[in-house]
Amino acid sequence: MPDALELLKTRRSLKPVELSGPPPSPAEIDTLLTVASRVPDHGKLTPWRFIVFEGDARLAAGEAIETAFRAKYPDAKPEQIAYEHNRLARAPLVIAVVSRAGPHVKIPEWEQVLSAGAAAMSLVLAAHALGYGANWITEWYAYDRRVLAALGLKDNEKIAGFIHIGRPVNPPEDRPRPPLNEIATRFASN
Ligand SMILES: Cc1cc2nc3c(=O)[nH]c(=O)nc-3n(C[C@H](O)[C@H](O)[C@H](O)COP(=O)(O)O)c2cc1C
Repeated sequence: MPDALELLKTRRSLKPVELSGPPPSPAEIDTLLTVASRVPDHGKLTPWRFIVFEGDARLAAGEAIETAFRAKYPDAKPEQIAYEHNRLARAPLVIAVVSRAGPHVKIPEWEQVLSAGAAAMSLVLAAHALGYGANWITEWYAYDRRVLAALGLKDNEKIAGFIHIGRPVNPPEDRPRPPLNEIATRFASN
């Protein structure tokens, strides 16, 4: 298991197709969900939930994606349709982080959305800590209400991310990171 700080300093996303099986075990999936649900949550509203896609269920979910795609693009080629059908089956495990943020008398909706983002990031980090690679993506179907309804989301729920998880096929190359002097300032009193 990598050292925590080293993991945080070196983490990098892998494409879904760069994530292979075997998938995390049921006990590991429980660990992933336990870590993901241990995030700051103003008001203890639990403004998020998770949907696990594994095994054949990934392709069953892909049918909903394919159906929506066919409706949008009636002239789509067979290979494009096959690609859409396979969207959630590229990696051996996908966990959707669903935001259920909404109006509240005290807790701003924005803070509830941020909590879902924290859950998604914790899920990514937990996957890495278990030795897997991960990728937090949304893609078009995360914003298609027909797909979301077929996946069981209510009208007030949104996808914060589909976290793709699997074993890295190759070590990832890093990408440039923003220089700290461009993104961090020290507040100075006059
Ligand atoms: C909410 C959210 C949605 C994202 N959706 C996509 C996506 O649909 N497709 C994509 O290529 N990257 C997406 N990304 C970016 C990747 O998660 C990732 O940040 C990117 O591949 C860079 O890799 P890194 O994590 O190593 O910096 C999304 C990130 C966030 C936070």
